[in-house]
Amino acid sequence: MRCVNDKTSLHKIIAGWHDAGETVAFVPTMGNLHDGHLSLVDEAKRQADHCVVSIFVNPAQFGPGEDYERYPRTEQQDRDKLAERGADLVYLPSVDDIYPDGLATGADIHVPAELNGVLCGAARPGHFDGVASVVRRLFKAVTPDIAVFGNKDYQQLQVIRWLVDEYSLAVKLIGIPIARDQDGLALSSRNQYLSVDERKQASQLFAQLRDIQIAIEQGEKDFESLSRRARQTLESTGWVVDYVTVLGADLKPAEQTHHNLVVLAAAKLGDTRLIDNIECEI
Ligand code: PAJ
Repeated sequence: MRCVNDKTSLHKIIAGWHDAGETVAFVPTMGNLHDGHLSLVDEAKRQADHCVVSIFVNPAQFGPGEDYERYPRTEQQDRDKLAERGADLVYLPSVDDIYPDGLATGADIHVPAELNGVLCGAARPGHFDGVASVVRRLFKAVTPDIAVFGNKDYQQLQVIRWLVDEYSLAVKLIGIPIARDQDGLALSSRNQYLSVDERKQASQLFAQLRDIQIAIEQGEKDFESLSRRARQTLESTGWVVDYVTVLGADLKPAEQTHHNLVVLAAAKLGDTRLIDNIECEI
């Protein structure tokens, strides 16, 4: 497995593969890799001749007071895991390599309000502009045929779909199911911020989403009262809930005619903000 820190070296290697008619699948990450990330690597390997992974904690997607500084950085362990998993190339750029004109021009893509101003976008202004901007830059640097993302960040994947469509990018997007711990908690680099007690409690988020999913699949149509009840249950045990909601799979308001729905939640336990979602079919 090769590791590079700059676009020029990256480009040389990948251009060689493309020239030989070989395909590239790309997994963008912020590192601190867990089994969820590694399942994306597995899929990338299945989908293309070469698997490229980037590790970059993108300052442009963190708001003031968020966890940019303390975001866990575990480069050596990440490299070891990727080598073991069979990734071909790891791109570990500096902030300058991604933002040569400085961070002030960092978020140069503006995601439309209907996607940007709802759910996590409402709670984290500028976050999805930062995500779209870095992913656009990473795609330019890596020139992948395929890019693999997790459904865990459901809204993020919709933003990337918008980006690819808006800029007519020649990359095929693949979404991968959420990897969970045994008790259902979605794997996340942020889970390690949880205290022992909070970690025990954290699986309640998934449990509430699952209850809503089961109710909907059994025919319940009153999505608002399902969401309200889940919110109340979580709040009664100390969660600070940002949203629990049922939407169409396209994140538009759920209609009776929708066959594919998604139940999404974001809530804080102590200082840790967790997100989760479950898709359901009717
Ligand atoms: P990061 O949080 O490191 O996640 C990288 C990728 O791993 C994303 O596509 C995310 O959805 C996926 N992922 C995380 N946890 C997962 C889980 N439990 N199961 C399945 N997939 C999971 O998302 C980002 O980084 C950044 O915003 C990025 C896209 C790299 C742009 O900076």
